[in-house]
Amino acid sequence: MSKKTSTTSNQAKTSVFNDEQKQLDSRKQALLTESSKGSDLSVTSERVGADFSCKDPSSMSSSYEDGGLYCYEGLKNCHRGKISIIGMGMVGSSYAYSLIQSGLARELVIVDANKDRARGEYLDLSHALSFVPPISIKEGDIKDTSDSQLIVISAGVSQSGPNESRLQLVLRNVAILDKIIPDLVKYAPHANILIATNPVDILVSYTEKIIRTKNLKFMGSVLGSGTVLDSARFQFLLSKHFRINVANVHGMIIGEHGDSELPVWSLANISGMPLKEFALHNGISFNDEIKKEIFTNTRFAAKQIISTKGATYYAIGLSLLKITEAILKDSNTILNVSGTSIPYFGIDPEVSIGYPSVVGGNGIKSRIKLKLSEEEQHGFRESAKVLKNIIDSL
Ligand SMILES: NC(=O)c1ccc[n+]([C@@H]2O[C@H](COP(=O)([O-])OP(=O)(O)OC[C@H]3O[C@@H](n4cnc5c(N)ncnc54)[C@H](O)[C@@H]3O)[C@@H](O)[C@H]2O)c1
Repeated sequence: MSKKTSTTSNQAKTSVFNDEQKQLDSRKQALLTESSKGSDLSVTSERVGADFSCKDPSSMSSSYEDGGLYCYEGLKNCHRGKISIIGMGMVGSSYAYSLIQSGLARELVIVDANKDRARGEYLDLSHALSFVPPISIKEGDIKDTSDSQLIVISAGVSQSGPNESRLQLVLRNVAILDKIIPDLVKYAPHANILIATNPVDILVSYTEKIIRTKNLKFMGSVLGSGTVLDSARFQFLLSKHFRINVANVHGMIIGEHGDSELPVWSLANISGMPLKEFALHNGISFNDEIKKEIFTNTRFAAKQIISTKGATYYAIGLSLLKITEAILKDSNTILNVSGTSIPYFGIDPEVSIGYPSVVGGNGIKSRIKLKLSEEEQHGFRESAKVLKNIIDSL
C-alpha cells in the first residue's frame, strides 16, 4: 500500500471517527435534554403531590382550593412512609402483601394479638423482600407503631357465616377498639387511622367517640374503607353487563358498608354517557330488573364469597391500598371512604358513612356535593339513620 493511499485511508478513518464522535456528542446532548425533561416532570410530580418532601407548613397557602397541594402539618411529626397494621388475619395480610409490592411504604409494622399468626406473617412477607421495592418490615406490638403516618385497623372478628350481618359484629369489635385506640393515639398522635374492621362505619364513629370522651390528644385523622370496595364491585358488575373495561365505568355505592347501602344510578355513566343512553346506542338491554340484579349482586357480594371460601380479602386489601396511596401521596383522590361530618342531606355529624370524599395527606379533606335524586337522598338519609341508632346505643 502506498504512503498516499495509507494517508487517505487514515484521513478517511479520522473523518469516520469524527463523524461517530459528533453522533455520540449529539446523542449525549439529546440524553441530557431528555433527562432535564425528566427533572421537569419531577417538578410536575411535586405539584401533584407525588413528591414526599415536606415543605414548611407556615409557608403554605391553603392548598387544595388554590390548586397547589401541600404536606399537612402532622407529617412533620410522623415517620414518613411508616405504616402499621393492627390485625394480620386475612384482610390485614392481603393488604400487607399488596403494600410491600407497591413501593408506597418505607417501613411496615405488623401487630396481631395472636403472636404465632404475627410471626408467620412476618416471616412469609420478609421472605419476599428480594422481589419487592425496599421496605423494612417489623413484627411488633402497639408501641412499635410510634409516629406512624398511617395505621390500618383490620383486627377483629369477621362474619361467622353468610347469615350474620356486619352490624351483628359490633359489640365484639367495639371492645377491641376500647383496648387499642388509647395506646395507638398515645404512640402515634399524628397518624391517619384507617379502619377496615366491620361494621366499619360504626367503628369510625366509635373511634372518634373514644378520642372525644377520653379527651385524648390526637392531631391525626380517622376514616374507614366505607363503600370503596362496594363501588368497585358495582363497577365490575356494570362493566360485565355493558362489556366495557371497568376503568371506563363510573358508578358508586354510598351509605353504610352493609345492607342499607344504595347505588347512585342517577350519576352512573360510561365515559360520561348515562347508562340508559349507552345501552340504547349499543343495543344492550338495561331495565329495572337488570338494575335490581346488578345491585343485589353488589350488596350481597360478601355473603356470596363468605358462603364459598369463608372470607373476603383480596379486593378489600387493594381498596385499602388505594386509600393508602391517596394519603401517602397526598393526591386528592376522590374515594367513597367513611367519615363523620357529612355536610349534606341533613346527615347527623356523628354518623360516619360512605360518601365521595377528597382524600389526601391528612385523610378526608373535603366532601363532593352530589346532585342526588330525591329517591337517592331519601335512601342515603335512611342508611344514616340505621347507623345513628346503633351509634347512640353504644
Ligand atoms: N371494610 C371492608 O370492606 C371489609 C371487607 C372484608 C372484611 N372486613 C372486616 O375486616 C375484619 C378482619 O377480617 P379478617 O377476615 O381478616 O378476620 P381474621 O379473623 O382473619 O383476622 C382478624 C385478626 O385480628 C386479630 N386480632 C383480634 N383482636 C386483636 C387485637 N386486639 N389486637 C390485634 N389483633 C387482634 C386476630 O388475632 C386475627 O388474626 C373483620 O371485621 C371483617 O368483617 C372488612
